[in-house]
Amino acid sequence: MKDLVPGAPAVVRNEHAEVKSLFQQHVVPSYGRFDLTLSHGAGSVVWDVTGSRYIDLGSGIAVCALGHANPEITEALVEQSRRLVHVSNLYYQAPQAHLARTIVRHLAPGRVFFCNSGAEANEGLYKLARRFGHEEGRFEILTATHSFHGRTLGGIAATGQDKVKQGFGPMTPGFRHVPFNDLQAVEESLSPATVAVLVEGIQGEGGITPASVEYLLGLRRLCDERRLLLLMDAVQCGHFRSGRYQSFQRILEGVPGAEAFAPDGLSMAKSMGGGFPIGAFWVRENVHGVELGSILGPGSHGTTYGGTPLGCAVASRIFHVIERDGLEARVRQQGDWMKNVLSRWVEQFPGIVRSARGIGFMQGIELQPKEAIPGLASVDRPASLQVVHRLHEAGVLAIPSGAQVVRFLPALNIGPSELQEGLGTVEQVLRELDGTLLPGRK
Ligand SMILES: Cc1ncc(COP(=O)(O)O)c(C=O)c1O
Repeated sequence: MKDLVPGAPAVVRNEHAEVKSLFQQHVVPSYGRFDLTLSHGAGSVVWDVTGSRYIDLGSGIAVCALGHANPEITEALVEQSRRLVHVSNLYYQAPQAHLARTIVRHLAPGRVFFCNSGAEANEGLYKLARRFGHEEGRFEILTATHSFHGRTLGGIAATGQDKVKQGFGPMTPGFRHVPFNDLQAVEESLSPATVAVLVEGIQGEGGITPASVEYLLGLRRLCDERRLLLLMDAVQCGHFRSGRYQSFQRILEGVPGAEAFAPDGLSMAKSMGGGFPIGAFWVRENVHGVELGSILGPGSHGTTYGGTPLGCAVASRIFHVIERDGLEARVRQQGDWMKNVLSRWVEQFPGIVRSARGIGFMQGIELQPKEAIPGLASVDRPASLQVVHRLHEAGVLAIPSGAQVVRFLPALNIGPSELQEGLGTVEQVLRELDGTLLPGRK
């Protein structure tokens, strides 16, 4: 019977086309999107609506600290949402208190303000700096070229990249950019109005560039000498991505005299919520004789959703899992292995990969100029986008960083076999591209 009576014809739906068309009609086109509609994930594997499988080496740009559909995050969400999702910051609530204590324990004595995103966390740091310098008429914050600090008006003014500013002038005053990792440039740029220096421990959007030991220690000394605040944007490079809670802790590890190093303020978001939107800034208790932790007194700053019981319960659970499962050590170990692989590619594919850089689970490869790679030269898109597109076709998600760098930001709990599979696929794509090079140019 089964063979004789044909079944009803399958309803063929192109879900990708449908979703894409809805986006084209109804969503502000401010993002250049890849031609992929993702549907679901588990750990470090994601599937699209056509059923194709990808190893996720991007984690939503360093967000999904514990991968996708993590059962413990789901449990924290469900448990807390049965009790209390939101209360105003007009009241006390335990999850926020506990999370603040954990963050302070991991940094240094200080206080935490909770918000919803990285840009918002940085906005808090700008306000903190302005309050700190207010009575002396100081307000200016020096940031680094190639830095990225978010897309709010303050964020694009702070960001050291012209592309985010175009068409949005006039810029919020009070920010100037100086070359990254160049202490002398900072020193020479100080003006009587300067109140703070803001840097990333590892520049993320600027091409995966770690701050040097000398730069961090020099900035600390300069800020102490000149009564400036040293502010760090740890939105992308923080939360154990470097193999320590904060990237400066990893960069300064074992450096004599650096044990007590701490910035005066630090912004965080992304991995902290593992995909649930939460951000925060931490501020040191006492700086230059000022009670910095109390400088933003009642009524001076706020945000409706900042530090909800739900967000804080999730963030606390992520801290718990990272500590319980020793993920800090795993990131260091697997990050070192990854560094070897990426460095080997520089030797193996010199016509394609110019350099490998980064720390822990925040690493990238810098590609040779597009014109030098025949497989990429004819297409009018940056080399990084073209390579990421090829990686998608091969089954890996990775993230471009500017025009030349492809970055890898795996979940902190990625399994060794998934990491190996993912990087193995990247290697295969590089090998194929290498095959397009003329023998003399290899
Ligand atoms: C270093 C850094 N700061 C700030 C931000 C902005 O964070 P958000 O997009 O959550 O506002 C980002 C986002 O990529 C970032 O990488």
